[in-house]
Amino acid sequence: MEKQITTRYRPVDTITETEHTGMVKEIFATITRRYDLLNRLLSLRRDIAWRRCAARHMRFTRTCRYLDVATGTADLALEVARQHPRTTVTALDFVGEMIDAGVRKIEERNMQSRIAFVRSDALNLPFPNDHFDVAGIAFGIRNIPDKTAALKEMTRVVIPGGQVLVLEMHFPRQPLFRSFYSIYLTYLMPSLARSFSRNPAAYLYLADSIMHFPPPPEFSRIMRDSGLTKIQRYSLTLGITYLHVGIKGV
Ligand SMILES: C[S@@+](CC[C@H](N)C(=O)[O-])C[C@H]1O[C@@H](n2cnc3c(N)ncnc32)[C@H](O)[C@@H]1O
Repeated sequence: MEKQITTRYRPVDTITETEHTGMVKEIFATITRRYDLLNRLLSLRRDIAWRRCAARHMRFTRTCRYLDVATGTADLALEVARQHPRTTVTALDFVGEMIDAGVRKIEERNMQSRIAFVRSDALNLPFPNDHFDVAGIAFGIRNIPDKTAALKEMTRVVIPGGQVLVLEMHFPRQPLFRSFYSIYLTYLMPSLARSFSRNPAAYLYLADSIMHFPPPPEFSRIMRDSGLTKIQRYSLTLGITYLHVGIKGV
């Protein structure tokens, strides 16, 4: 059995943006091996349905290019390539270990001709303006302290009329469900993670970051403030996850 990491992470509302980003890099570099397994287990495989739903809402009209920001192990990138056979996909992340796992997965599925990886920061996308039909981010925006800056970058690189999609977990509003979910996030999920992950504290961070993420209407406002229009949001699985869709004005 591999040695467990015993780091403890400070709550996200007590640290600077730079500390938050450093913490995110460390966390995702150390949970790569069991990342997919824990995603399936902790969401009871709903994560697959959520990414499917996001890909179903995408519209490819001109460039047939899709940008997957904070791609991790490339699950959304793969789903888009599967549902939209004419697209080419660029999968971007700033953690080398996550990209390596994504590359292995793409090679196993023989999808190298459809998906290319780029190691870069979501806050400084290395692409020209108006380059992609769609830019998406699944479970990534929560880990980026300056959400407006990230959304502005995604908006910049899509064509006028193109889409920016965000799939993200929220803390439910309904009081009873909220209490139950809070027990799940703070006790059940970390104890499951202790059995499977070499960095179980990462899953305490996950709980903390979900509880501190803006509620859905506030996130719609952040999307609007980032220059997106026609914002729509879709509640998935009793509102623990939302798909947010915005359009770049023409
Ligand atoms: C929870 S994972 C999500 C991975 C994948 N999209 C999925 O659906 O499972 C978050 C990913 O965001 C990446 N990430 C966080 N901040 C980033 C940034 N500023 N630039 C690029 N990648 C970032 C992390 O490295 C990590 O791989």
